[in-house]
Amino acid sequence: MLELKNLTKKFKSNTILNGINLKINEGELVVLIGPSGCGKTTTLKMINKLILPTSGEILLKGKNILKENTITLRRNMGYVIQQTGLFPHMTVAENIGLIPHIQKWNKEKLINRVEELLTMVGMDPKEYTNRYPSELSGGQQQRIGVARAFATNPDIILMDEPFSALDPITRNQLQDELYTLQQELKKTIIFVTHDMEEALRLGDKICIMKDGNILQYDTPEVILKNPADSFVEGFVGKNKIWSQPELIKASDIMINDPIISLGNKNMIQGFAQMRNNKVDSLLITNKDKKLLGIVTLKDIRRNESKELKLQDIMTKPETLSPDSNLIEILNFLNERKLNYIPITDSDETLLGLITKNTILSVMSSQYIDQEVM
Ligand SMILES: Nc1ncnc2c1ncn2[C@@H]1O[C@H](COP(=O)(O)OP(=O)(O)O)[C@@H](O)[C@H]1O
Ligand SMILES: [Mg+2]
Repeated sequence: MLELKNLTKKFKSNTILNGINLKINEGELVVLIGPSGCGKTTTLKMINKLILPTSGEILLKGKNILKENTITLRRNMGYVIQQTGLFPHMTVAENIGLIPHIQKWNKEKLINRVEELLTMVGMDPKEYTNRYPSELSGGQQQRIGVARAFATNPDIILMDEPFSALDPITRNQLQDELYTLQQELKKTIIFVTHDMEEALRLGDKICIMKDGNILQYDTPEVILKNPADSFVEGFVGKNKIWSQPELIKASDIMINDPIISLGNKNMIQGFAQMRNNKVDSLLITNKDKKLLGIVTLKDIRRNESKELKLQDIMTKPETLSPDSNLIEILNFLNERKLNYIPITDSDETLLGLITKNTILSVMSSQYIDQEVM
């Protein structure tokens, strides 16, 4: 685990970092994001000891890195920067293998590793090993930068706006690839960006910085739902949640008190309850709110003998769990041509109800909020 404790940086009288605290768990990808000049690069450089803090500590697995050997520390950290930092007079293989070469790996091991890394970043070793950086596209150069950072299989990888200079399509591709790679390798990655979409796509956690302070450090989900202040809210974009529909959960949008009835009521009572509440279906539960079935207006009309009880005519509805996301809910409704879906927990207790209208009204309220602002 990596921990920044009360970390301060001053350049002359300018305070660049204002005593920040940050804990990064092993295997997590943490995104540092904030406006230009807020101190992101300075933070990364201090983790790599390229810049020394004015005060405060950086602990790696509990040890103060300032007291550790710098070379050993850097060997265990890959660093990717926006301008790739590839050496123009070295081939792709020489660039990727630079650190292993300095570490005097034997030739065969080194060649194998370079091949492996090229393959990992989606480049054919046969074609690219002997090329020079100038013979590669921007995206390919950045892939080499990523491959080089992974070369010695370090525990920590620092990435400073690695994809910012790329065109949107290539950037998307590299984001996807990094995401997939990270699912597999589970490195500790600190990734700097000023692009919120990128942060949301990649980050296990996002750290929002401004003027040398951390405003909020949490999962993308929490930041989207509960921005710490109006700056974060503005930065995230008020409606951003709708561009991340997989983060919207059934429990966020369901009606919490749907109209329910006990199964021992008769159809006349059921019909009256529907009319009074202006609904066309009733969820039938027992006294412990366990969902037993559903009765619709059609079910009541279809049955002549009005002395039947609701439990005699109810059908068993399909249900979803409270953490199904908006995409899953919409697909479920569409595939089964349903207008509603009860939300239950694992022991069938009724938690809420989602109807197509619920989804529509939640969506439209987002836009109305925006107009008011
Ligand atoms: N070596 C330096 N000397 C003086 N000021 C610096 C130095 N490096 C960075 N700064 C200043 O520190 C602030 C934060 O810089 P930086 O960490 O690069 O921001 P970011 O990466 O968030 O855009 C900026 O105002 C920058 O001008
Ligand atoms: Mg920077």
